[in-house]
Amino acid sequence: MTATIIDGKAFAARIRDQVAQHVARLKAEHDLVPGLAVVLVGEDPASQVYVRSKGKQTVEVGMASFEHRLDADTSEGNLLALIDQLNTDPHVHGILVQLPLPAHLDSDLVINRIAPAKDVDGFHISNVGLLGTGQKSMVPCTPLGSLMMLRDHLGSLSGLNAVVVGRSNIVGKPMAQLLLGDSCTVTIAHSRTRDLASVCRGADILVAAVGRPEMIPGDWIKPGATVIDVGINRIERDGKPRLVGDVHFDSAAAVAGAITPVPGGVGPMTIACLLANTLTAACRANDLPEPDGLTA
Ligand code: GUN
Repeated sequence: MTATIIDGKAFAARIRDQVAQHVARLKAEHDLVPGLAVVLVGEDPASQVYVRSKGKQTVEVGMASFEHRLDADTSEGNLLALIDQLNTDPHVHGILVQLPLPAHLDSDLVINRIAPAKDVDGFHISNVGLLGTGQKSMVPCTPLGSLMMLRDHLGSLSGLNAVVVGRSNIVGKPMAQLLLGDSCTVTIAHSRTRDLASVCRGADILVAAVGRPEMIPGDWIKPGATVIDVGINRIERDGKPRLVGDVHFDSAAAVAGAITPVPGGVGPMTIACLLANTLTAACRANDLPEPDGLTA
C-alpha cells in the first residue's frame, strides 16, 4: 500500500483564503480590522524567522500586524508591562509571545499575564482548563491544524483509536484533548511507555510529537492508519542539512493509509491556525459570529 500524502501546504493556503475572505467582510461590514501582536525577546535566529513569517502572513490576509522586539536582557517587569498594554489595546485581538524566552524570564508567569481572550496560542492556564473541560477556548495552533487535517481526511473520528506520542503542554496534551473531544479512544504515549511499538501498532490515528528524528519506523504503523507527523528536526544527511519528522517517512508511507510529509505537512498549518485564531478572537471580542470550520 502507498499512503495518500496529506498536503499541509495546500490545506494551509485554503485556510488563509478563508480567513482573508472573512477579514474582508469584517472590514466592509463592521469597519473592524483584526490585529495580531507578536512579542520577540532576544535574537534567537529560528525565532526571528518564525516571527517574520507570521508578520508577513498576517498582513497578506488583511489583518494588522504589530511586532515588538525586546532586548535579550529585558527585565520581566518590562515584558509584563508591554503585555498589560497590549491586553488593553483595542486594535490588538491576538497576542503571541514567541517561545522559548531567555532563561531569566518565567515563561508561565509571562504567558498567564496575557488576557485569555487574546491568547491566540491557547497556552494560558484558563484556555488549557476550558479545553480540558470541553468548553469554548482558544486552541493551540499545531494541534488545531492537525485536527483539521484529520477531519478533512477521515470525516468522523468517532470511535477510532488515537495514539499521541509526546506529552508536551504545547502539542501532546492539547492534541489528546481535541481527539477525545471528537470521541476517539486516546492513548498518550511518551519516552517511558513500555513497548511503544505495540502501542503505536494499535493506532488508527498516530500523532508523533516527540522531537526525535525518524524515531517511528514503518513497522510500528497499523496498515491503513492515518499518520500526523508534528516533528520538525534538522539533521545532516550525506553532508547536507535536511528537515525530517519524528516518523521514518519512506517506510511509514509504504504501510499507512495517509501521512503528512515533513516539510509541507503540519508546519504550514500552524501559522494558518494562528491567523484563524486571531480572526476568531476578533469576532468574539466584538460579539460577531465566528467563522465556520476554523475552530475546534
Ligand atoms: N515557538 C515555536 N513555536 C511556537 C508557537 O507555536 N508559539 C509560541 N508562542 N512560540 C513558539
